[in-house]
Amino acid sequence: MALTRRQWLGGVAGLAALGVGAGGAARYWLGRARPGAGHDYVLVAAPLAMELVSGRLSEAWAFGGSVPGTELRARQGDWLRVRFINHLPVPTTIHWHGIRLPLEMDGVPYVSQLPVLPGEYFDYRFKVPDAGSYWYHPHVASSEQLGRGLVGPLIVEEREPAGFAHEATLSLKTWHVDEQGAFLPFMVAREAARNGTLGRLATVNGITRPTVDLPAGQIVRVRLLNLDNTATYRINLRGAAEGRLYALDGNPIRPRALGQDYWLGPGMRACLAVKMPPEGQEVALRDGSMRLGTLRAVAHAGPAGEWPAPLPPNPVAEPDLASAEVLNFNVEWVGSVSATGDNGRPPSLWQINGQAWDVTDKTCADRPIARLVRGKSYIFELKNMTQYQHPIHLHGMTFKVIASSRHSIEPYFTDTYLLGKHERAQVALVADNPGTWMFHCHVVDHMETGLMAAIEVA
Ligand code: C2O
Ligand code: CU
Ligand code: CU
Repeated sequence: MALTRRQWLGGVAGLAALGVGAGGAARYWLGRARPGAGHDYVLVAAPLAMELVSGRLSEAWAFGGSVPGTELRARQGDWLRVRFINHLPVPTTIHWHGIRLPLEMDGVPYVSQLPVLPGEYFDYRFKVPDAGSYWYHPHVASSEQLGRGLVGPLIVEEREPAGFAHEATLSLKTWHVDEQGAFLPFMVAREAARNGTLGRLATVNGITRPTVDLPAGQIVRVRLLNLDNTATYRINLRGAAEGRLYALDGNPIRPRALGQDYWLGPGMRACLAVKMPPEGQEVALRDGSMRLGTLRAVAHAGPAGEWPAPLPPNPVAEPDLASAEVLNFNVEWVGSVSATGDNGRPPSLWQINGQAWDVTDKTCADRPIARLVRGKSYIFELKNMTQYQHPIHLHGMTFKVIASSRHSIEPYFTDTYLLGKHERAQVALVADNPGTWMFHCHVVDHMETGLMAAIEVA
């Protein structure tokens, strides 16, 4: 399934058509022994007329001609090389959410790189150290760019097969469109001051309530990715299926039953193993009581599947809690009537430790909110002083969730933690990746109205 979406041949043809690499320049990919020896993609971002509402076209923006964008795949420990070509009318970048990589590949404008202008290209090239489900998106004008569809899955396969014979990627996204398919505002100040501006049309892999055929009686690895700007999905299954969580946000956990509702905040992912029922039966994938899509069991020859062993851990450094320094991060709401934006500037509504990020100020990253010493362990004490939840995300490093005032925590590694209303949580990490890393809420409206900071590791 994944193979059909790979861009090997399409990539080379695409380059030739654009005249890039003609005359022997930049043909590094020709040195590859065979396609299986590595992964190379050419990814074009361009406008795309999409039929989100039946019979109507919406002016979306897409990576690789589809929303969600091309599913990029690499094997753990390998290089991922993506030539990104910008055919949008606006400057942009690509950020590789959850991947531990060097700063210059992180896609943050004016920190990692300059924005890629219309007509330009940028070569992203990095190793993928951790297996799991990741994703990519711009880090420029995020509410509009992600809102119009610039989101895509990035799957890093385990070095050795993990024991799943079947898998499916389900990317969740809502759209800010009206009944005619016309785009509505991606961010409304009064919503940005609350939960964020919700889209009206829910989709899975770009389709409203799709039916996905999966092999009857088999265990399927279902990668659920929340690529939405603002929505937190309360994931549950209905129907004769059993679901177990195998990994959260790219990192393995001790497999456990999916249970009632798993809260998947913006930017978060869950790797679910689903035991499909007998042929002809259906399983509803739901958000609370709302059906997002249907998993339909179709004929499959062969013995019933067994539950695979837990996934192997990723090589993330274990923080030393005894010597760790504790840093406090307080998330506050500062919205007021006087805080409305001016001159095309979004309003300032949120702060971390009394500082609001200004997306129109290119120098914000020069004033990091914390300076960490490379190699040292830290505990971040996250305190949500607001009545809204915030999926708190860190670039460049993976952290371990160790405690929460609201849930009992079995410690696990992640890149995004959904901090509940008035919750306090502790996450720990080894500051092992030098650079200036964004630390922000992944409700895109919150991030663009102040809830972002830079953390320096030197
Ligand atoms: Cu999905 Cu700044 O990240
Ligand atoms: Cu990120
Ligand atoms: Cu938030």
